[in-house]
Amino acid sequence: MILAILLQMRGIDVVVLERGTRVDVLSRIRAGIMEPGIVQFLRDSGIETRIDQLGRPRNGSRIVWQDRPDVVIDVKRWTGAEMMAYGQTYLTEDLYAQADRLGTQLFDDVTELAVTGLQGNRPQVAFKTPDRAVEITCDYVIGCDGGRGHCLGLIPEAARQVHERIYPFGWLGIMVEAPPLDDVTYIHHSEGFALAAQRGPNLSRYYVQTPLDQGVEQWPDVRFWQTFLTRAPKDVADAVVTGPSIEKALTPLRSRVVEPLRWGRLFLAGDAAHLVPPTGAKGLNLAINDVRLLSQALIAHFEEGDDGLLERYSTDALARVWAASDLSWRLTRLLHVFPGEPSFDDRLRQFDYDRLLESEDRQRALALDYAGING
Ligand code: DHB
Repeated sequence: MILAILLQMRGIDVVVLERGTRVDVLSRIRAGIMEPGIVQFLRDSGIETRIDQLGRPRNGSRIVWQDRPDVVIDVKRWTGAEMMAYGQTYLTEDLYAQADRLGTQLFDDVTELAVTGLQGNRPQVAFKTPDRAVEITCDYVIGCDGGRGHCLGLIPEAARQVHERIYPFGWLGIMVEAPPLDDVTYIHHSEGFALAAQRGPNLSRYYVQTPLDQGVEQWPDVRFWQTFLTRAPKDVADAVVTGPSIEKALTPLRSRVVEPLRWGRLFLAGDAAHLVPPTGAKGLNLAINDVRLLSQALIAHFEEGDDGLLERYSTDALARVWAASDLSWRLTRLLHVFPGEPSFDDRLRQFDYDRLLESEDRQRALALDYAGING
């Protein structure tokens, strides 16, 4: 949607296809922490959001650890810039509103998608909506269709590599109508990870690490809160305002990077191109960075006939993707308990945390990675 709006503002025709409905898209709950550079890009690029009305600027986040002192991931101190807590759902609402104002062509409820001609100059896209069959001829196809979408499969296996790590646990997340903690708080406990995050002055998001063989129905609110409050140190537990969940969902954790992100006239962006575990909240930031690069590249192509940026898109985007994949993997490994892991791994985890506690250099490096600065 961001790419569509950016291109359309330059007079480049765009058609957006969505498998779900608008209601499905707007009810999808995702992380809500944006890097300073991404917030600035949105402000500068003409994307009209309510970030400055509804977002909560944050100095950074906090790590709390059973029987050890806290570490503050102090982005403000080390970079001078602020993170922004702004739920992805609010951003999606902003984007639909702007696309509607611009008259962007959006097709919902798309089925029977068929894409051909990606190695030629005029790819064809055919699909059905509930009331008609449509065929489009276009210049480029941008696959922004997520980790289980159609577009990745359009690239022959011999023409791509998929690097992947599947984690042996998930996150159970709930939404609660209650004031959140002041800081996004990552919790490590010998029984597993937990996280307190924010959505608004009276809307909180909480997560606990869960085994993969248990569904949402095995996690009534009482069990969720018992688990969360056991993992949280006493001062954090005392500060949390609990309440009934108004939404509850399980997220499996996966890291994936596809290389390269281009095949002929097809470009991949966002989760279609790469997945990160939610630890660190990098997914939305990476997706926006991808389309930032793609918009510049496509505008250079259409306005100046210059394909240099398109040729470099995969390399340029993957530099940030690998940096964020590294951060989210390191944070996941540091904060979670891996079922069945040797005690060696847990001792290294404690060692890693102690080094972070002792070293301002390490805290600064973590804050820069967390803020998406450096790479
Ligand atoms: C959320 C926030 C985080 O900082 C994170 O690492 C994961 C999720 C959230 O707001 O849901």
